[in-house]
Amino acid sequence: MTTLFTDSPLSSLLNRLFAQAETTTSPALAALSREERVRLMHSKTEYLQFYSQLKDLWLPVSRETGALLYLLARSTRARNIVEFGTSFGISTLHLAAALRENGGGRLISSEFEPTKVMRAREHLAEAGLDDLVEIREGDALKTLSHGLPENIDLVLLDGAKALYGDVLDLLLDHLRPGALIVADNADFSPEYLARVRAPNTGFLSLPFGNDVELTLRLA
Ligand SMILES: C[S@@+](CC[C@H](N)C(=O)[O-])C[C@H]1O[C@@H](n2cnc3c(N)ncnc32)[C@H](O)[C@@H]1O
Repeated sequence: MTTLFTDSPLSSLLNRLFAQAETTTSPALAALSREERVRLMHSKTEYLQFYSQLKDLWLPVSRETGALLYLLARSTRARNIVEFGTSFGISTLHLAAALRENGGGRLISSEFEPTKVMRAREHLAEAGLDDLVEIREGDALKTLSHGLPENIDLVLLDGAKALYGDVLDLLLDHLRPGALIVADNADFSPEYLARVRAPNTGFLSLPFGNDVELTLRLA
């Protein structure tokens, strides 16, 4: 198991949150057939209903992906980060912790489910990282369509999978050359994968670990 921030208050908080995430179940999800689940994961029109049904589920990045996010943000000395899909804030905590160690910066995160936004804010405040994070409440297709930093260093795509390409379009003009995009569970977004893996499109992209697509903006 990958463990970050050993013996720090953040490590205890993350352990507690990962444990809570593991034990939370969703009767709504259990009631869906596998086929229906897969269909909804690919849907560009029913994502709000789908994720509203799952509002109690944490669906966090894995511990490994959390560590990867921290590592990438530190190694690139990221100052401007954008996140699609906050949920209860587990990935957000990793990214904000890296910003703190980098000397400060700004993380714009996006989540439409109000109860999740509230809980994520509480977790960030508990970690003393809330001053670095702006959680924009609402559909990211709207909330990330304005007010972005000129030079984004790092992006996490972890909201509705079918929207990865649309969110990339919103961010594209703001991604600095050398910016990194981490897309979690991108297998559910074949359109996005085809786009970032295609030659001569300005990206270099490869699958990384079990569930991440890691993409570099070339120019
Ligand atoms: C997989 S979870 C994110 C997990 C989070 N990154 C973490 O590691 O804890 C996906 C989240 O994205 C949110 N979401 C999905 N589509 C969205 C959209 N279009 N705009 C804003 N939030 C969205 C869902 O409500 C859900 O909480």
